[in-house]
Amino acid sequence: WVLMVTAQTPTNIAVIKYWGKRDENLILAINDSISVTLDPAHLCTTTTVAVSPDFDEDRMWLNGKEISLAGGRYQNCLREIRARASDVEDEKKGIKITKNDWQNLHVHVASYNNFPTAAGLASSAAGFACLVFSLAKLMNVQEDNGRLSAIARQGSGSACRSLFGGFVKWVMGKEEDGSDSIAVPLVDEKHWDELVIIIAVVSSRQKETSSTSGMRDTVETSSLIEHRAKEVVPKRIIKMEEAIQNHDFPTFAQLTCSDSNQFHAVCMDTTPPIFYMNDTSHRQKVLMGCQLFRIIGCVEKWNRSEGTPQVAYTFDAGPNAVLIARNRKAATLMLQRLLFHFPPNSDTDLNSYVIGDKSI
Ligand code: DP6
Repeated sequence: WVLMVTAQTPTNIAVIKYWGKRDENLILAINDSISVTLDPAHLCTTTTVAVSPDFDEDRMWLNGKEISLAGGRYQNCLREIRARASDVEDEKKGIKITKNDWQNLHVHVASYNNFPTAAGLASSAAGFACLVFSLAKLMNVQEDNGRLSAIARQGSGSACRSLFGGFVKWVMGKEEDGSDSIAVPLVDEKHWDELVIIIAVVSSRQKETSSTSGMRDTVETSSLIEHRAKEVVPKRIIKMEEAIQNHDFPTFAQLTCSDSNQFHAVCMDTTPPIFYMNDTSHRQKVLMGCQLFRIIGCVEKWNRSEGTPQVAYTFDAGPNAVLIARNRKAATLMLQRLLFHFPPNSDTDLNSYVIGDKSI
């Protein structure tokens, strides 16, 4: 027999960024972060997990290709879920699995991203969140999404925030065992549904410096990161929570753009410096980096000319632009500008736009 569960989890985009760990193994952050979870229709991971007495080892396929589960992150997630497994009974199939059986049964996992893997579109976030969620359902884990977020966090820090929709805060926590380092939902997806998210997919290539090694180097070498984590982010978190509660777009936009810019500033303050927005290793990438800076210029100019911000921008550890428009009208105008200045498939290496609202 085979028992299967399929789940779908969207990715999330941080508006106050997580960058830097206080514990590499448990994945504990040096600051709180806040993100918005995208509509699953656009950027999500679909994962099927299966269990059978015929499986003789845990195996996983990502986008159809088998990947190794040897890494500590997968093992940590599997171990934590197995430790919380409960009895499962499927009368129709005549299957009965006890809590103890789970320790000896193996799982097969097939996971698909409907967006580029590791191109800085937080694929690990959706991936680990979906893995943990689907395994928890399969093994009948009786824990809420907050507790599951602490397990997904051990796969990839940003993954803990994908267990909830809407705006989500990852509380860094104080405990050494990470038990209080969990995601908490701030507001659900209906709270601020005028917002429209546009993602300019500049490149589907894998990023050159992974977030994991990039943030390790930053913590070890940047003299700005401590100031960011201890002084700047705590204040921004409070203001951002207020802005979200009050639908205060000007404050939201100012904080989002500043935090993205500061994240890239600490990346440049790292030795060796990390240039996620302007990778200069070959000609096409130089063009691509210039485009990203031009997108910032374009948004800043437009916001100034309107007298009040219409769009916020944020860039993660990869060369794609995420634009958050205050409403559908602003998104339409922004998209027109983007299509005019940065047409897809030109020599700018801009491939496509993904829009977080089907109606545009
Ligand atoms: C820039 O969660 O990918 O997207 O915990 O090492 O897996 P690991 O890192 P990851 O880092 C995400 C960094 C970021 C900011 C954010 O999502 O908060």
